[in-house]
Amino acid sequence: MVSAAPTVLLTGACGYIGSHTWVALAQAGYRVLGVDDFSNSSPAVLTRLQRLTGQAPAFKQANVCNAAALETVFSGQRIDAVVHFAALKAVGESTAQPLAYYANNLGGLLTTCRVMQAHGCRRLVFSSSATVYGAPQHLPIAEDAPLSATNPYGQTKLVGETILQDLARADAAWRHVSLRYFNPVGAHESGLIGEEPRGTPNNLMPYVAQVAAGLRPYLQIFGNDYPTPDGTGVRDYLHVVDLAQGHVAALCHLLDGGDTLTVNLGTGRGSSVLEVVNAYAKASGREIPCHIAPRRPGDVAACWADASRAGEVLGWRAQRGLGEMCGDSWRWQITRDHRADTQNQSAVLFTGR
Ligand code: NAD
Ligand code: WQD
Repeated sequence: MVSAAPTVLLTGACGYIGSHTWVALAQAGYRVLGVDDFSNSSPAVLTRLQRLTGQAPAFKQANVCNAAALETVFSGQRIDAVVHFAALKAVGESTAQPLAYYANNLGGLLTTCRVMQAHGCRRLVFSSSATVYGAPQHLPIAEDAPLSATNPYGQTKLVGETILQDLARADAAWRHVSLRYFNPVGAHESGLIGEEPRGTPNNLMPYVAQVAAGLRPYLQIFGNDYPTPDGTGVRDYLHVVDLAQGHVAALCHLLDGGDTLTVNLGTGRGSSVLEVVNAYAKASGREIPCHIAPRRPGDVAACWADASRAGEVLGWRAQRGLGEMCGDSWRWQITRDHRADTQNQSAVLFTGR
């Protein structure tokens, strides 16, 4: 842990991973500032962050593509590092709306880096993704595996990593950590923050959660004829609180003078769709009706991380298993509709003037 209390700016701070990272950083003693445009989150998250951290969140509503708005956050205060979460993340939508994805994800990264540079802040943690491995040739997947993008969303992550590498080559003062997340799931154990999918969930666990809650009649299992032990797709599911701790470790590395890195964040263990369904049924005590459906286009059979580099260079290891991921997801699912704070938002401190 660093000795002073460094200030860290989170972009996309009210989203799923940003909100959990905010709590982890506040608990680790960092001063946290947040920026979000609420394009995929809600101001109600700020009320819950206040409850979890015991502090009024320092927050500004802003789009990271808007340099003038970011300027107001940087001016008048020292920011030691940025964690850049802000991005659009739906793979299917990115194929239908490539311009929106390139503009938001790459435009937002470029603007953030430019404003950081203008203010002498050159420490960045970037939300990358295991999607940059495309269809993996070997398992587990190590960071030096071949890279490819199969959709515009994945392309924004590949190009985002490249932009940061070019920046580091051009100016040795720039240091960044690109974190390649595998499949983040679960929620904070309090049940106060979690993933809030808009409309039909794209990802497995939020969909299973809604089936368990009776909000959807059944889960479609996309393919049971993959070359995996039970025929269903295998992924490396990772508890979002472990993932948040990975960001604390990456920031600690950068602020202690560590070098630029690219690191997988995963458990190193794969679970099939059927294993997830069974674990969720156990955690929730509910039945999860399933229908076998055709494979989803673009899906790979199996994908899990070689997570050894994260252990070696960041001292980070995932602690939570599939049962805890499902249990915490379920607690979030059953409590979220009953909270009063979605109607009754408390005031928060705004940074900048
Ligand atoms: P999320 O949608 O819950 O959070 C992203 C947040 O960024 C949202 O609150 C949204 O309102 C905000 N945002 C988007 N564009 C913005 C802009 N231009 N200006 C300001 N705010 C903006 O997503 P998440 O799951 O928390 O993902 C965070 C990051 O991690 C993203 O970069 C995503 O691509 C990456 N990632 C996510 C996963 C996953 O499965 N959740 C996996 C790998 C990588
Ligand atoms: C997991 C498994 C599906 C839904 C995606 C993005 C990736 C990353 C994380 C951001 C697969 C199966 C799913 C359903 C199912 N995001 N499934 N029924 O595809 O590994 O990754 O999210 O970077 O870029 O592509 O995750 O949760 O969608 O799917 O059978 O209703 O569950 O086929 O085997 P995926 P997922």
